[in-house]
Amino acid sequence: VVGIKVSVYGATGYTGYELYRLLKSHPMVEEVILKGRRTGRLSDFFPTVFEDAEIVPFEEEDDSSVAFLALPHTVSMEHVPALIGAGKKVIDLSADYRFSDAKIYEACYGVSHRDPANLSRAVYGIPEFFTEDIKGSHLIGNPGCYPTSVLIPLLPLAHERLIDENFFVFVDSKSGISGAGRKARENLHFPELYDSFAAYGVWNHRHQPEMEHILSKVAGCNLRVRFVPHLVPMSRGILSTIYFRVKDEVKAMNLLVDFYEEARMISFVEKLPSTKDVRGTNNLLYTFRNEGKEFVVISVIDNLVRGASGQAVENMNVVMGYEESAGLPSLPLFP
Ligand SMILES: NC(=O)c1ccc[n+]([C@@H]2O[C@H](COP(=O)([O-])OP(=O)(O)OC[C@H]3O[C@@H](n4cnc5c(N)ncnc54)[C@H](OP(=O)(O)O)[C@@H]3O)[C@@H](O)[C@H]2O)c1
Repeated sequence: VVGIKVSVYGATGYTGYELYRLLKSHPMVEEVILKGRRTGRLSDFFPTVFEDAEIVPFEEEDDSSVAFLALPHTVSMEHVPALIGAGKKVIDLSADYRFSDAKIYEACYGVSHRDPANLSRAVYGIPEFFTEDIKGSHLIGNPGCYPTSVLIPLLPLAHERLIDENFFVFVDSKSGISGAGRKARENLHFPELYDSFAAYGVWNHRHQPEMEHILSKVAGCNLRVRFVPHLVPMSRGILSTIYFRVKDEVKAMNLLVDFYEEARMISFVEKLPSTKDVRGTNNLLYTFRNEGKEFVVISVIDNLVRGASGQAVENMNVVMGYEESAGLPSLPLFP
């Protein structure tokens, strides 16, 4: 079988590097073309890499069939129209193509959307849930890291209209620092973060409307989310604790246990999962506890893999008709 060529835009960042790491050992990928606004050898930016891979300018044409955009929001939509025009499949890790409605994007990100035509055709990329839509798609909005950890366990319940819309879905999440990207910032320095943690973005984080938008769309009614994220002093991982009320606890329990039975990278577990259980993998583990109709779901992912680059590779696998977990490590780093 002949492999394909893929390109990674934003190769100097965390998710760009993670894409390279995964795609380099993907059985169906023959070449990974790296692009950036800063160019040079990959080892100039990642001194631990003993390879001669080059990062070339965005403008340099290439014959890749899939383009991954690991760029900030607003930057992605500058590139997408030309890439779609060139016949490539595009997987965007930024928020630019996650909302089917430009108005919600604009309200949330405070900028106008410059590519509404493609936005209306983009598919939200949770591979195990929106599989059929993703198969036929040319443009995938790869989900945010926190929304991934929340939506995967909750979407089956939303779809069966089991989540009680008269109550909020409260989401309390903790993330490793790599979720904030590679760019240096004062409040992200080691002495300021280590041995301490705090909340941020209380009820106004941009992932709150993303969760509400997708959950409500799938449920066909208005589900309200209240979200509080925290940065904790570890490099990778997200743990989300999600509180909500259901309409029928027996149906909800059965769905939570059974829905992802066939999915290789999503597992319901009895124990309380920890971020270490999924480190370096595209796996999501979740559990739940309930008292009658009151439920709490706890989920864990690696923010750079399932929360970003790994899920993007899985989306490529679905689009290209490859095995869903191709190129994605199944065993976590341990300890
Ligand atoms: N980190 C996560 O856990 C995570 C999870 C899900 C989604 N995402 C999303 O994925 C995207 C990338 O995140 P990241 O964590 O990889 O960020 P990052 O480490 O800061 O990397 C950002 C990349 O974009 C490039 N870039 C920044 N501003 C640019 C501009 N104005 N024009 C062209 N290139 C520019 C950077 O190039 P330079 O090196 O030249 O600055 C770098 O290659 C973001 O949209 C983020 O929201 C991240």
